[in-house]
Amino acid sequence: MKTLLHLPPHVAWANGALSRAPLIRKTTHLGDLAGVFADTDAWQRCDPSQPVYSVEMFDSPSGDGELYTGVTHLNPGCVGDEYFMTRGHFHARREQGEVYFGLQGEGLLLLQNEQGKVRLEQVHPGSVHIIAGFTAHRLINTDSQILSALAVWPSVAGHDYASLAGGFAKRVTVQNLKLMAKEVQNG
Ligand code: F6R
Ligand code: MN
Repeated sequence: MKTLLHLPPHVAWANGALSRAPLIRKTTHLGDLAGVFADTDAWQRCDPSQPVYSVEMFDSPSGDGELYTGVTHLNPGCVGDEYFMTRGHFHARREQGEVYFGLQGEGLLLLQNEQGKVRLEQVHPGSVHIIAGFTAHRLINTDSQILSALAVWPSVAGHDYASLAGGFAKRVTVQNLKLMAKEVQNG
């Protein structure tokens, strides 16, 4: 029997561009993020059509055992003094985990367990983030260029945004990031 050689899908590590397979793309604008940023007045003054992030993923099969692969591109910016971020979610199937890989830019991955305990991981090119099940996750762009991160997750995981409608337990602002940076320097 003949063995066929397949050209697999491709990711450009430098900027997260996906190619060589059918893609799905969704962009989230400031106007879609009602109630996400703390400073509601500042959010209302913003242009609702301004794109905050886009997710590009391979149009791959779903079902038990299948994996989705996608890249989030999160623009730089702030609403008030709070950095641009993704909406953030638990997985609908809580036990399902995910892995994020930093590709370009600098930022943070905010992780929160079901008891509300938070943890921040620094995202940068080459960083690997193993997100265990039962852990909500949100990307935050603290840089002045695009933050791009590759993600791989079980197709059955789903998204639960509603459980975090009241917000995550930690917000990252220009001000408190400076304080965190000082704490790191002081050991
Ligand atoms: C999939 C996943 C990412 C996010 C993306 C956008 O489980 O974690 O692909 O979906 O970063 O963030 P949300 O979905 O929170 O708007
Ligand atoms: Mn996820």
